[in-house]
Amino acid sequence: MKNIAVLASGEGTNLQAIMDAVDKGEITGKVVLVISDRHEARALVRARKKNIKALFIDPAGYREREDYDSALVSVLQEEDVDLVVLAGFMRLLSATMIDIFRGKIMNIHPSLLPSFPGCDGVKQAIEHGVKITGCTVHFVDEGLDTGPIIIQDSVVVLQDDTLETLQQRIHSVEHRAYIRAIDLYCRDMIEIEGRRCVIHEKQR
Ligand code: GRF
Repeated sequence: MKNIAVLASGEGTNLQAIMDAVDKGEITGKVVLVISDRHEARALVRARKKNIKALFIDPAGYREREDYDSALVSVLQEEDVDLVVLAGFMRLLSATMIDIFRGKIMNIHPSLLPSFPGCDGVKQAIEHGVKITGCTVHFVDEGLDTGPIIIQDSVVVLQDDTLETLQQRIHSVEHRAYIRAIDLYCRDMIEIEGRRCVIHEKQR
């Protein structure tokens, strides 16, 4: 059984969906740790409600990004974490962390990458006027939302969509995609070949 850590800075709806999926047996892994860089993150409250260890690691206590990431690495290693899931974690990870957990860190982004990376993926899609957007689950590399893509799912942009309505529909698609990607990882069904992820889906 793989040990999963979720890093989140905000609301934590993806975290909630992941923890619920673990409880229902839809993910063959275990969330052992939730870390946030924000004390007030709702994600920490959600984790504690499920009796999952929830840590606030304050960036103010570290001079450089690398120092913060070294602290993250220590905690993740102490808990024997196999997979690090970024769910709205609002910090860029440094090479310190990526090198140690290469191929073991996933992120979810609210657009069909490589379109609209970085902040405000949903806003960028509306402003660009695309008719279809969606979400992408990918492994994390040194770039900004550039790592190998695991799963994507699409969402139609409606003519009268606001940022909020579109964001809401993308969110529900995100939850499904993340659960699937994490479960595939936990069952060793994802192989990274350069930029491509090959999925070896077998019958359960
Ligand atoms: C999601 O939209 C995700 O794509 C982005 O951050 C948001 C996190 O939402 N990376 P939540 O905290 O899981 O509700």
